[in-house]
Amino acid sequence: MEYIKERRKWKYCGIFLGFSLLLCFADQASSHIRYSVPEEVKEGYIVGNIAKDLGLDVGTLMDRGFRLVSGSNDAYFQVNQNNGILSVHKKIDREEICDGMNTCIIDIKIVVENPLEIHYVAVEITDTNDHAPVFPDKQQRMEIAENTLPGARFQLRSARDPDIGVYSVRAYKLTQNEHFDLEIRDRGDEKVPFLVLQRAVDRERKAEHKLLLTAIDGGNPPNSGTLNVTVTVLDNNDNRPVFSHEVYTAQIHENIPIGTMVIKVNAIDLDEGLNGEVLYSLGNNYGMFDLNNVTGEIWVKGEIDYEKNDVYRLDVLASDKGTPPMTVDCRVIVKILDVNDNNPEIEVTSLSNLVPENSKPGTVISLISILDKDSGVNGKVLCTLSPNIPFELKPSIKDNMYSLVTKTQLDREETSLYEIKIKATDLGQPPLTAEKNISVQVSDVNDNRPEFFQNPLELYLMENNSPSASMYSIAAVDKDIHENAAISYSILKESSLQNKMASFLNINSETGVIYALTRFDFEVTKSFQFRVLATDSGTPPLSSNVTVNVFILDQNDNVPVILYPVISNGSAEGVEEVPRNVNAGHLVTKVRAYDADIGYNGWLLFSLQEVSDHSLFGLDRYTGQIRTLRSFTETDESQHKLVILVKDNGNVSLSATTTVIIKVVEPKEAFAASDVKSSLKDEEGNDVTFYLIIPLGSVSVLFIISIIVLIAMQCSKSTDYSSKYLQDTNYDGTLCHSIQYRSGDKRYMLVGPRRSIGSAVTSGSNANTLVVPDRRSRASVEVRACL
Ligand SMILES: *[C@@H]1O[C@H](CO)[C@@H](O)[C@H](O)[C@H]1NC(C)=O
Ligand SMILES: *[C@@H]1O[C@H](CO)[C@@H](O)[C@H](O)[C@H]1NC(C)=O
Ligand SMILES: *[C@@H]1O[C@H](CO)[C@@H](O)[C@H](O)[C@H]1NC(C)=O
Ligand SMILES: *[C@@H]1O[C@H](CO)[C@@H](O)[C@H](O)[C@H]1NC(C)=O
Ligand SMILES: *[C@@H]1O[C@H](CO)[C@@H](O)[C@H](O)[C@H]1NC(C)=O
Ligand SMILES: *[C@@H]1O[C@H](CO)[C@@H](O)[C@H](O)[C@H]1NC(C)=O
Repeated sequence: MEYIKERRKWKYCGIFLGFSLLLCFADQASSHIRYSVPEEVKEGYIVGNIAKDLGLDVGTLMDRGFRLVSGSNDAYFQVNQNNGILSVHKKIDREEICDGMNTCIIDIKIVVENPLEIHYVAVEITDTNDHAPVFPDKQQRMEIAENTLPGARFQLRSARDPDIGVYSVRAYKLTQNEHFDLEIRDRGDEKVPFLVLQRAVDRERKAEHKLLLTAIDGGNPPNSGTLNVTVTVLDNNDNRPVFSHEVYTAQIHENIPIGTMVIKVNAIDLDEGLNGEVLYSLGNNYGMFDLNNVTGEIWVKGEIDYEKNDVYRLDVLASDKGTPPMTVDCRVIVKILDVNDNNPEIEVTSLSNLVPENSKPGTVISLISILDKDSGVNGKVLCTLSPNIPFELKPSIKDNMYSLVTKTQLDREETSLYEIKIKATDLGQPPLTAEKNISVQVSDVNDNRPEFFQNPLELYLMENNSPSASMYSIAAVDKDIHENAAISYSILKESSLQNKMASFLNINSETGVIYALTRFDFEVTKSFQFRVLATDSGTPPLSSNVTVNVFILDQNDNVPVILYPVISNGSAEGVEEVPRNVNAGHLVTKVRAYDADIGYNGWLLFSLQEVSDHSLFGLDRYTGQIRTLRSFTETDESQHKLVILVKDNGNVSLSATTTVIIKVVEPKEAFAASDVKSSLKDEEGNDVTFYLIIPLGSVSVLFIISIIVLIAMQCSKSTDYSSKYLQDTNYDGTLCHSIQYRSGDKRYMLVGPRRSIGSAVTSGSNANTLVVPDRRSRASVEVRACL
């Protein structure tokens, strides 16, 4: 906008007159001269020719004392006395001399003498544009609230320019900007600039606007002045806090120590001051977390257990402190990582802890389920059994389910109770384990027979036992238990065996004690066999039998029986006739005797108990032969009586006596006598036969025939004793019988007077038995009886 100062008409005319020397006003023309000169002209600038304008003669000026008289302002001008020209003496600043005035006139007086004249000269100083507009301050600060509506006006400082008229401030300009415009109000002498808000300001976008206001004057070229305007935008709580993330995620291990920081949330509020101060709070914390309401740090407050909760979703609120506060929320997801902190748990569902020993392999004993609350590998469990047991774990359809089954056949007799240790180990680091013991009882099945310690069993019994006394206690064992091991004994009544004695035996079915119901007589029965059956009470029962070989041992219970000479009624005597002419060594007769016992009990020794003439007859101790010791003489009596003692060799020996009458006859008679004797013998033979048949029958002709052959072979390899007996048999008439028992792998020989060596023979048998164990595989027991 251009601003042009008004001019007064008369002034305009005056200036015009001054220059053209025309007088506008007649009454003033004589004494007043008016000039106009621009300010700031150089020294010597010619204002005008006063002399000429006053009509003075130039040649006389000097003489008349043409000069300039003025006050303080004189110094601005000077006159030349030679030509009467007024010029500028020193630089004139209009604004200095007459600031603020519209017209600036310097009055000067010109004096001429002879005659004295005083002329008044007014010099008007005209304005030039020598000043620029100036603002009172270099800058202006102002504050505008954020929410100020567009259209609001804010006054700015106005600039001042000392120049006047067109050279004064003519216009204002504002730097280009988005928000503000400029409005100028004219107050007559002054133009006042106003800032007008065109668009709302946002502190958060731009907190300070820097503007430059320029004031321009009307000069050509124009001068200008500037004012820095700083507009500060005042904050308004128009911004919510904003979280750096919508959703925060964090991962922590379970069992993390209380107080550990989990995550730090951060919200920023663009507002200033309290409007921008953020306070955090937890919407829901499950009692597990806490939060620093200033820093946004979230830490653990409770015990985190993955097994209870594996993820927490927290709502975190952020509010600023403005009024009213603005609040936003965000989500914090805390994932819990599993730690191997749970032991596996073993749960056993027993179907039965009693398993029969005959169960098939694969029989299910128990169901085992393993539980581990941990997840992943920490929850993966390996299950093992104690080694070297006949059980195994079979995985089931479901995970971590096993069935405990038998692996092999069980045997209660070997192991009746199994302590099975189940061990579960998870795969965590470090692994955790659990143990459980199951005891499995193996129940008995009747799978074992009773067993005898020895089979066959050999039993040696003395004859003449007292009937109904226990003779042996047999025992069998059964490895089973309870009724499966309850054994009852019985004697087998079999017809096939040579067990005629079985009916004379009784057995206590519970104790196995065997009783003999009869008195054994060695002379009748030397051995017999029977079988005992042991049966358990299982279902079905199992049984086994044992063969018992009984050997009856001899006792010296038989008195030697003298077969010849026979003592009939004890009074009759054997009468032998001997020819008188026989030489020494002549066999007179032989005493024959028999003892039903065997061994030493049956080993007979002969001796002379009474004899009339000791020098005449001798008796062979072993054979019983009576021989003459010398030839008869005339003086010898014709009849001799010999009392002969026959004694066996039993411990307590038994004996018998007989009497032999020897008649010494003449040789002829002797022949006759021998006839008589033979006939006598025939007669006596009947008696002899009678006596012989009974014992010999019992001793059995069988032995005599068959066994003697054996003995011949046997005795030849045998000890001195047996061979001796055989010799006896050979060289004399004594009957010798022997009994061989064959059994097992041992050979027993019942002979001579040795003490018992073996242990298999019942005590008391030492008197007449000898047991000779023989290593050869075939063995025999020999019992001999001699007569
Ligand atoms: C005014 O602003 C201008 C540019 O914007 C700058 O160069 C100048 O230094 C400022 N003056 C003052 C007094 O701040
Ligand atoms: C912020 O927390 C501190 C201590 O944790 C507490 O004293 C203060 O009252 C809390 N401020 C607010 C506004 O909840
Ligand atoms: C299982 O038995 C073993 C001995 O066989 C013993 O050392 C262990 O303590 C037992 N375990 C349990 C859980 O009873
Ligand atoms: C006796 O035992 C044998 C085998 O030791 C057997 O063969 C026999 O049949 C049994 N006899 C009886 C009657 O049980
Ligand atoms: C045996 O003697 C008795 C009297 O002691 C007599 O009665 C009996 O007849 C005699 N017998 C013989 C066979 O001589
Ligand atoms: C056998 O003789 C011994 C001594 O030689 C004796 O101690 C024992 O009692 C006798 N036995 C009998 C049955 O007489």
